[in-house]
Amino acid sequence: MSDDRVSDDQDTSPGVARFATRLRAARHLVVLTGAGVSAESGLPTFRDPLTGLWARYRPEDLATPEAFARDPALVWSWYGMRRDAARAALPNPGHRGIARLESLVPRVTLITQNVDGLHRRAGSSEPVELHGSLFSTRCSREGTMHEGLVDRELEAARLPRCPDCGALLRPGVVWFGEALPEDALRRAQAASTACDVFLSVGTSHQVYPAAGLPASAAAAGATVGIVDPAPSGLGMSEAVYHLPGKAGEVLPALLAEAWPRPMSS
Ligand code: OAD
Repeated sequence: MSDDRVSDDQDTSPGVARFATRLRAARHLVVLTGAGVSAESGLPTFRDPLTGLWARYRPEDLATPEAFARDPALVWSWYGMRRDAARAALPNPGHRGIARLESLVPRVTLITQNVDGLHRRAGSSEPVELHGSLFSTRCSREGTMHEGLVDRELEAARLPRCPDCGALLRPGVVWFGEALPEDALRRAQAASTACDVFLSVGTSHQVYPAAGLPASAAAAGATVGIVDPAPSGLGMSEAVYHLPGKAGEVLPALLAEAWPRPMSS
């Protein structure tokens, strides 16, 4: 282990200070986010043992093509609930700090596994949405995208249907057993192997291919930082810097350290 590496049980601030030095010098930064970045906006993560969505619901009942074929009304009621919760939530200082990085680093690629739309609402210009979006909708037969039809139908307790072929519309998210959107995955992989700094925020790194991106970045020579209150779940050979804490606290601290604002008189 090099001197720069910070193990999980050391004090936070030296890690933040050292990672901030790398961040300030970054030419191309990749930020990968997961559900933890939206936790402080009041949206549940997936794998928290008490409050996580997968502690309360079974993914095979709600987030697979088979579940939709079996009971589309149940699946739509769950996604309708998640759309309402995401709409009611507000971006937090973690989302806003990530958006601000676009004005501080020459090139930033934001890759998110989240489907809640909060990065866009915080000002991030072009997030790569690896797992789709709660607010997009696809024809379950032909895969064509159809926006804006769903809320009215769900409010009227009707299942939304494709205006072209009449098949059911489905949420535009990636379900278990499905491939990720090709273009998004290609962009995410290309950016991860081209960047010089990679920052992973609020993900347990359990779902591939997103979980493999930090290791790809490290193998290609990038400095990797992990922001998470829990141990990163990645081996130390990959997680060079663990920056323990909540995204809404660590991101602002990291930015303040990397780009200190001059004191006003
Ligand atoms: P997880 O629920 O697996 O992990 C959330 C991570 O966020 C954990 O490591 C927490 O410790 C951390 N965390 C909690 N609060 C935090 C905070 N305030 N700030 C920073 N980190 C915090 O969620 P994901 O890794 O996003 O996929 O899950 C990946 C995928 O699994 C999801 O996209 C979803 C799920 O099944 C699909 O639905 C296809």
